[in-house]
Amino acid sequence: MTLKNDRFLRALRREPVDYTPVWLMRQAGRYLPEYRETRKAAGSFLAMAKNPEIACEVTLQPLRRFPLDAAILFSDILTVPDAMGLGLYFVEGEGPKFERPVRTEADIAKLAVPDMETELGYVMDAVRTIRRELDGSVPLIGFSGSPWTLACYMIEGGGSKDFSKIKAMAYSQPALLHKLLGVVTDAVIAYLSAQRLAGAQALQVFDTWGGVLSPALYRDFSLRYLQRIAKELKRGEGAQRTSLILFGKGNGPYLDQLANSGAEGVGVDWTVSLEDAVWRTKGKVALQGNLDPTTLYASPDAIREQVRESLDSYAHGNGGSREGHVFNLGHGMSPDMNPEHVAVVVDEVHTYSKR
Ligand code: CP3
Repeated sequence: MTLKNDRFLRALRREPVDYTPVWLMRQAGRYLPEYRETRKAAGSFLAMAKNPEIACEVTLQPLRRFPLDAAILFSDILTVPDAMGLGLYFVEGEGPKFERPVRTEADIAKLAVPDMETELGYVMDAVRTIRRELDGSVPLIGFSGSPWTLACYMIEGGGSKDFSKIKAMAYSQPALLHKLLGVVTDAVIAYLSAQRLAGAQALQVFDTWGGVLSPALYRDFSLRYLQRIAKELKRGEGAQRTSLILFGKGNGPYLDQLANSGAEGVGVDWTVSLEDAVWRTKGKVALQGNLDPTTLYASPDAIREQVRESLDSYAHGNGGSREGHVFNLGHGMSPDMNPEHVAVVVDEVHTYSKR
């Protein structure tokens, strides 16, 4: 099927586009009243994510409001450890938690790659349902957490402020942590490959917590595994048609290594300028980002100004060309953001970049 809007995929291939494509991390979520309504009827976030029809509905909600250039699968990165038997649940106001976190050598020895069409079949069904309903309007992005970020939740048992348990393991039992990261990486590769087979047209890895590591630990415990994912995804069915984006919060110091990983795109947060990011990754990858999400709390005029600054920063670094830029926030949206301000971002990206 030919896509009606392939700007996002073209930008990832660094091909010319008539305007810069935009999508927003966490574009489906609690800031939308229709999401809150669907969630209330379904009972919980997990009930939504595990029902392909509801996951599809929620994926489409932001696209009905805003002319976004891509859809992202409504799911979560923690579906993979859940399928590995850790027992994912959410506590209101506290975020995700695991009933059975991974702490000992015996816990790690028990872990295996889940079966993608049974244990994670609901995700693949959601991908197929969304592709059918999108009907070629925009491409669908599939995603996974990075091995390091998934391991953070698996070992800490939930969110963390200081990541003390996993970092203690990195320093005192590195071989054990590598064993865990190895099996999680196998699962991530299988998960992304299965989403691609089910119909995902681009893939993103969220390395949300890579930035909490020292450079030496980042290289050993995060980057290494991202490189393996990028390399292994080059094989297999659909590899030629799908681009991979490596997003990492706090990945500024590592842009050159990420650009050399074999991924087609690198997602950057707002702590680096796009001009600088282009300069450091020149010619090797497309860049995705990087409006500070809190810009959405500002006035519409201030938002427009910041969007233009981000677009211009990219073009300035790229010899005046907007090719190879996917506009996004530098991190995900928050529940208290104003949907009208999202409309302002999307409109300014499209109108300003078209000139
Ligand atoms: O971008 C999208 O719209 C796609 C859906 C998506 C969700 N989570 C939906 C979700 C994606 C890509 C994620 C990824 C994710 N999940 C990450 C990495 C993303 C990043 O920004 O770096 C992480 C760290 C998680 C783990 C997780 N899941 C957290 C921290 C939370 C929030 C918990 C809370 O109470 O605020 C979730 C739940 C979650 N995942 C929600 C959504 C829309 C909120 C669910 C709700 O309460 O309705």
